[in-house]
Amino acid sequence: MSLAIQDLGRRHVEYGVKDHHYETVGATLLWTLKESLGAEFTPQAKEAWATVYGVLASRCKRRLSLRHSRMRYQYARNQAGMTSYASPYV
Ligand code: HEM
Repeated sequence: MSLAIQDLGRRHVEYGVKDHHYETVGATLLWTLKESLGAEFTPQAKEAWATVYGVLASRCKRRLSLRHSRMRYQYARNQAGMTSYASPYV
């Protein structure tokens, strides 16, 4: 599951998604649920959805920032004329 979420995050990097987009999408998800479910969307339900989305988003973003930091590291090495190597993590 965790690897599947990391891979989802990696694909989102390719879609051009940035960290701050997750907040907008999360708020929109909660708004949509409130609009469609009305009173059935209880405070407990909202809390549960917010928690699940928050966990998914933070894992997607963690993958995103890890990938970015590795890319910056590779770039810096190349700029310094150091030999490039294939990272086992990307
Ligand atoms: C935790 C939050 C999110 C989840 C669980 C999620 C889930 C998904 C899934 C399952 C797909 C189908 C393709 C795939 O598996 O790669 C997808 C596609 C996509 N998502 Fe997300 N997503 C999330 C957040 C976001 C955010 C914040 C954005 C930014 C606006 C975004 C933009 C996109 C785009 C552009 C596509 C490709 C659509 C296409 O090519 O048809 N997603 N997402």
